[in-house]
Amino acid sequence: MQGYNLFQLEKIGSILKKSFITLPDDQYIKDEKKFRKRRYSTGFIKNKQFLWSTTKENSFEQSETINKYAGNVKRDYEPLTKVVMSFIKKDFLPKVLVYLPPYDYEIGVHQIRVIADNQNMGIPAPEGIHQDGFDYISILSVNSQNLAGGVSVLLSSPDHKDVVFEQVLQPNNCLLLNDRSLFHYVSPIVPKLPGNCFRDMIITTFSIIDQNKQKHYNLQFDKISYKTVLLTLTRRSMRILRTALFGS
Ligand SMILES: [Fe+2]
Repeated sequence: MQGYNLFQLEKIGSILKKSFITLPDDQYIKDEKKFRKRRYSTGFIKNKQFLWSTTKENSFEQSETINKYAGNVKRDYEPLTKVVMSFIKKDFLPKVLVYLPPYDYEIGVHQIRVIADNQNMGIPAPEGIHQDGFDYISILSVNSQNLAGGVSVLLSSPDHKDVVFEQVLQPNNCLLLNDRSLFHYVSPIVPKLPGNCFRDMIITTFSIIDQNKQKHYNLQFDKISYKTVLLTLTRRSMRILRTALFGS
């Protein structure tokens, strides 16, 4: 998948929506008002089987080159709750993996609520227009309330004029993007009507575990193509020979 894909997810129940209420504050937000809440867990897909990581360490780190806002900081988060883990494994990943090449992946799942009120806006992407250093990223909109702003933007380069996608994701929308070929950004959120607002998302990152596997698949494909061409040529030669010997 070179660019991006926008699709709908049907199974988002009220239990999943309610799980955002208990999200702890993201301690790594530098503003006094913690406008982001988050949980995070990791897993991996190997031979088409998904498993959650069993390691107790639950941290996330990006280099400063990639993330100027919170790079070079080891960020520890509370893990996802069982409800969210079950949704990811049973309802979410089977839908998303249809769109991705069939590799083994390391997966990071971020459950995030961004909030805002009359005095404080919420900033879903404090690092600005960026890439996150993975192969693919999915952005699933779970719920929102009294929301203005929060426009998801994809760009082919960090240049403002290279926008390839621009949309406020509605609940159940899932935007899947190639993090190597595209840059992304989300505009700040504010309340549409006076009061509070929130934007609830599940962001999943996919890193191909074995880069050589891509070459392996390409080689297999080449082998198949070679065999197919050889078989076609052999059949054609046989036909010509048969026609020459016995007539048509
Ligand atoms: Fe990002």
